[in-house]
Amino acid sequence: MTQTTTIPERVVIVGGSSGMGLALAAALIGRGAEVIIAGRSSARLADAERALPEGPGTVRSVVTDITRESDLERLFTEAGPVDHVVTTAADANGAYQPIGSFDAEIGRNFVEAKVIGPTLVAKHARIAAGGSLTFTSGVAAYRPAPGASIVAAVNGALASLAYALAVEMGPIRVNVVSPGWVDTPIWDTIAGPAKTERHQQMAARLPVGRIGHPDDIAQAMLTLMHNPFITGTVLHIDGGHRLT
Ligand SMILES: NC(=O)c1ccc[n+]([C@@H]2O[C@H](COP(=O)([O-])OP(=O)(O)OC[C@H]3O[C@@H](n4cnc5c(N)ncnc54)[C@H](OP(=O)(O)O)[C@@H]3O)[C@@H](O)[C@H]2O)c1
Repeated sequence: MTQTTTIPERVVIVGGSSGMGLALAAALIGRGAEVIIAGRSSARLADAERALPEGPGTVRSVVTDITRESDLERLFTEAGPVDHVVTTAADANGAYQPIGSFDAEIGRNFVEAKVIGPTLVAKHARIAAGGSLTFTSGVAAYRPAPGASIVAAVNGALASLAYALAVEMGPIRVNVVSPGWVDTPIWDTIAGPAKTERHQQMAARLPVGRIGHPDDIAQAMLTLMHNPFITGTVLHIDGGHRLT
């Protein structure tokens, strides 16, 4: 009897050391994938590697700042050809600010990380035909709140970027996941000690009665990665936040 060997899929997650990216890494390792997680902090990457489950897949990490093109060139040279790339990288530090005190430098850094960075990922990643590139935007683009104008702008821009790249990069598929509020470490930066109270208030407002878990978003990313007919799509995973 002939035995067939399945080649494990290879996935790069830029932002894979925390939150949604880390949840996706765990799900992929459970499915036998070869996962490469990337982020700025080597300590955070090492913690993530320790926290991830044992096999059947594998994980390794590459220190990468998505705002630096030379880092991305090195990441994708080390990774070689891949099946899927996902970007979740963002640092919300200072990004939420009323327009009257808008700090242009902070705004530029946020644009660099969430718009220019993903564009450079598209430039340098060597993704297999039929593979996918998935960006992470956010509900701020679709249900804006005061004090989040630049956050809304970059998340909205990611949708247009994905539409354009889906046309240009086909048959590679390019999509966006747009999360609502999800309980991840980014909230320690956004809300500090007010995090739990703000999450409870949002949970009470949402039709689903809770805020998101990183696994909710990881499942959506898996769908975008593996459904071969989805491209140029923004998938909203927000518990109904846009409707409230
Ligand atoms: N959580 C929410 O409620 C929510 C809602 C809507 C949208 N989003 C979006 O969802 C995405 C994922 O957020 P999350 O909640 O999972 O955040 P998180 O837990 O803070 O994870 C962010 C990840 O990105 C990495 N990162 C940050 N800046 C980077 C850079 N310049 N280059 C490379 N890696 C970088 C971080 O590692 P290092 O710090 O070590 O680099 C970390 O691994 C973000 O784009 C965020 O804007 C989140």
